[in-house]
Amino acid sequence: MLYPQSNSSRAMISLDGFWKFAPDVNDDGEQRGWPLQLPADREIGVPASWNEQFQDLMYFFGSGWYEREIELSRQLRSERMWLRVGSANYLSTVWVNGTEVGRHEGAHLPFVFEITDHVRWDGPNRITIRVDAAIAADRLPPGDVEDEQIVGFKGQYPNNYYDFFPYGGIHRSVTLFTTPVSFVSDIRITTEIDGTEGKVKAHIGLSEGFEGACTVSIRGTQCRSSVEVGAVGPSVDVDFSVPAARLWCPEDPFLYELEVRLTDGDGQVIDQYVQTFGIRTVSIRGTELLLNGKPVFLTGFGMHEDFPVLGKGISPAVIAKDFNLLSWIGANSVRTSHYPYSDEFLSYADKHGLLVIGETPFVGFVRSHYQGTAILNKAKRVITEMIERDVNHPCVIAWSLANEGDTLAPEADAFYEALYRHAKSLDDTRPITIVNCVDVEKDVALKHYDFVSLNRYHGWYEQAGRLDEGCRILSEKLDRCYEVLGKPVIVTEFGADAVAGVHVDPPEVFSEEYQAEMVTRQYEIIRQKPYTIGAHVWSFADFKTSQTPSRVVVNRKGVFTRDRQPKLSAHKLKALWSRESR
Ligand code: GCU
Repeated sequence: MLYPQSNSSRAMISLDGFWKFAPDVNDDGEQRGWPLQLPADREIGVPASWNEQFQDLMYFFGSGWYEREIELSRQLRSERMWLRVGSANYLSTVWVNGTEVGRHEGAHLPFVFEITDHVRWDGPNRITIRVDAAIAADRLPPGDVEDEQIVGFKGQYPNNYYDFFPYGGIHRSVTLFTTPVSFVSDIRITTEIDGTEGKVKAHIGLSEGFEGACTVSIRGTQCRSSVEVGAVGPSVDVDFSVPAARLWCPEDPFLYELEVRLTDGDGQVIDQYVQTFGIRTVSIRGTELLLNGKPVFLTGFGMHEDFPVLGKGISPAVIAKDFNLLSWIGANSVRTSHYPYSDEFLSYADKHGLLVIGETPFVGFVRSHYQGTAILNKAKRVITEMIERDVNHPCVIAWSLANEGDTLAPEADAFYEALYRHAKSLDDTRPITIVNCVDVEKDVALKHYDFVSLNRYHGWYEQAGRLDEGCRILSEKLDRCYEVLGKPVIVTEFGADAVAGVHVDPPEVFSEEYQAEMVTRQYEIIRQKPYTIGAHVWSFADFKTSQTPSRVVVNRKGVFTRDRQPKLSAHKLKALWSRESR
């Protein structure tokens, strides 16, 4: 389903703001009639996690119930009405006026339910959403796993099996939107470059039963194509050639607009939708990552969607701040560690030319996840949802299908090959990777992927305090990795915790000086290898984790503090990266 749009054929109503809220501490809200009437004991802000909005909910990992009412203009009565939630962690159930209209498993990706038949036009409509945030081994990402791949996460509180806090709640916008009865249901754009021409292919999905004309045009150009669609035609495909194309790239993130119009036999406009896109290509050639045929080196960070009080809730102001800081420091790219980021983040990246590796929410798979097909099928569904949502973003230049799963287990070979093939079947225009944290010589999964992503902490988790040795070993391990796999390498994580304000000379672990020396020296080691395509410092900003002895309330590997103030390492990286860009 396309991102909601307001135009002369479509309306949008934001439901962001204050909702009634009640934690279902006995997990019996449904039996007690909460879908009809919520005995709310508070009002909560949406979008945002519930954990940091109320002290008594910080460690509440049950089901939270949301309720709000809205009256709708009768002018919308002839339209189809839809409810969209940008992300809710983890399992959502939605009721409209007491009738269940749908369920969705999984955070970080949107879900949409048609509610046309459940809307009241003579009074208020009650929308109720239950969000079940329970931590479980069969959820993505997993919690409370039996075996342990990465020492340290098992036994933390709460018992999620990854290094970020398992926030619960409605984390992205809730929107009502309308479409006409017949409407544009999907748009998929792929682009190629032929000399100075852009070759654009557009696949247009149409709602069932539409009969009329579908006109597709690229605004600001002579590109226009009109196709008659009979009732049998659920989709149309059109090709365009754009002369003297402005290619999308970080230096010039030019966006074209593809407009789709549906008209009836009298030429009346039934529906219209405008999809922005960039004309660009991305590929791997030998040891290079090519953007529009030119080598690019990915300089930047792993990040989190994380901010005080908001938790995992998104805020346009925080997105703007983060992009301002990424530009300030001289980064050209990020990985959406460890889950798909918001539509709004990716649209901002399209407009401002940030390169993005889009990552699934599969962090910390262990051997038990590879048994049978339940997790594999769930993972494939999530990959489908992620690619269908993000495929038109020019900023997304690659997919990362997992972070630090157990890729030594023999079963991991077939498991990750299956994920690769599934993703490639949905999108053969982008290279695909997974992120390794084990000895590549024993890794059974990386061989199926287009390039290698490594998380390496030589000088932190290993050789702590011995930076010379750590740097030497990092260099040797990188060379060995290329020798074994012969594929281009990005180091997707390297770095050290630094508690802002702690200064020690000579540098010691947890001091700003140690972090600054480690990330700058190791960035230069990685950058100088002939087979590397990127170096992402871990991490952009400090972020909330579960409680464990190795975390001082938050993970402090950020080069910025959680409230986005620069540490010494931010200044040192800015100086290093600005020298490079000259
Ligand atoms: C891992 C993991 C991160 C984690 C980091 C750390 O590599 O991918 O999610 O935060 O190491 O330990 O700081």
